[in-house]
Amino acid sequence: MEFPNCFTKLLFTICFSLFSLSCFSVVPQLAYATGGGGGGPCHFPAIFNFGDSNSDTGGLSAAFGQAPPPNGESYFHGPAGRYSDGRLVIDFIAESLGLPYLSAYLDALGSNFTNGANFATAGSTIRPQNMTLHQSGFSPFSLNVQYYQFNDFQRRSQYIRNQGGVFARLLPNAEDFSHALYTFDIGQNDLTAGYFFNMTTDQVREYVPDVLDQFKTVVKYIYDHGGRSFWIHNTGPVGCLPYVMDRVPITAGQVDKVGCATPFNEVARYYNLKLKEAVVQLRKDLPSAAFTYVDVYSVKYELISQAKKHGFVHPLKACCGHGGKYNFNMHHGCGSKIKVHGKEIMVGKSCKDPTVAINWDGVHYTEAANKWVFDQIVSGAYSDPPIPLNKACHMH
Ligand SMILES: *[C@@H]1O[C@H](CO)[C@@H](O)[C@H](O)[C@H]1NC(C)=O
Ligand SMILES: *[C@@H]1O[C@H](CO)[C@@H](O)[C@H](O)[C@H]1NC(C)=O
Ligand SMILES: *[C@@H]1O[C@H](CO)[C@@H](O)[C@H](O)[C@H]1NC(C)=O
Repeated sequence: MEFPNCFTKLLFTICFSLFSLSCFSVVPQLAYATGGGGGGPCHFPAIFNFGDSNSDTGGLSAAFGQAPPPNGESYFHGPAGRYSDGRLVIDFIAESLGLPYLSAYLDALGSNFTNGANFATAGSTIRPQNMTLHQSGFSPFSLNVQYYQFNDFQRRSQYIRNQGGVFARLLPNAEDFSHALYTFDIGQNDLTAGYFFNMTTDQVREYVPDVLDQFKTVVKYIYDHGGRSFWIHNTGPVGCLPYVMDRVPITAGQVDKVGCATPFNEVARYYNLKLKEAVVQLRKDLPSAAFTYVDVYSVKYELISQAKKHGFVHPLKACCGHGGKYNFNMHHGCGSKIKVHGKEIMVGKSCKDPTVAINWDGVHYTEAANKWVFDQIVSGAYSDPPIPLNKACHMH
């Protein structure tokens, strides 16, 4: 798979040079050095999020058509650009910081970017893919593209804001970029991409370092634009998700006690190990920024493997889906139409109670699961360094 190409590198170089010359007032010293866990709450004025469907609040829907009903029904009472029955972890993050839900950068309608923007889209990878969304299911808005969009947003928002009136009430202040929280939840699709192109686990492992090099590059560009507080989720146990287990053949010996596929989870853990190393490197390279690495993998695996203990049922079964061992069929996904006995019906919610379901549609988590995950990570218990979300501007 030919991923990184000269064109991308060239573009990065051009953007970078242009911006070193431009006149952003990047307020220095935004992350605050504290010894031994001190420091008050951070008062983040905005969140800028980069990611895939785990944190897409309307990006892919704006570009390629809405996530259909019954997505969104539990909380938003209708489609809300999210692949879930309700809120995502990023929504709970925004809520807990006292900020409104993030508008998708791509969403031209009804958006308010005063408190940040969301560049995530479902199907996004870190490395640009070589196929269209239609061919492969992967979004064209890979992390480098999300960075171009952020770049465009930062530059033009200030120009437009200066026109005053309603524009001043839709866009952030220049200073907010350096005080904002920059959140990341991306990488899962880089792993599945290899498998979906019939690569072996060894071949997938082999390209992980390149994926993370590209991740670091983007984080550094954001830093160059004033970003100082970075909150980085690792990738979840993708081997416990129906869409992977159903699509990629595994042998009986490759299933763990919980029923998850071990090779995919091993690759996810390998990715996370390398991501953690990348974050350590970023701390060295960018000593005036605060980096929080959040072990979402362990939280999600705990939830799936101890579902009953945490009040959930059928951890490997999709709530909204149709057929097969996992109530999942990639050709008849949640919200699609199928013919049964000559009658067209919608693939809808088949679990009785989504508030005790973990998996929503075979790929994504339910609102209840997202809330549970958020509740575990907000305190810092799964973070390195172990500081709570609202102190993630402090360096350690
Ligand atoms: C994309 O990359 C994969 C893996 O290298 C390759 O098998 C496939 O043919 C490529 N597709 C296109 C359209 O170039
Ligand atoms: C956008 O949201 C902010 C608060 O987050 C609010 O102050 C502002 O009035 C909103 N803009 C519009 C045009 O409603
Ligand atoms: C992967 O292998 C399957 C089964 O042999 C085949 O149907 C499919 O087209 C292959 N996919 C790619 C992207 O090469």
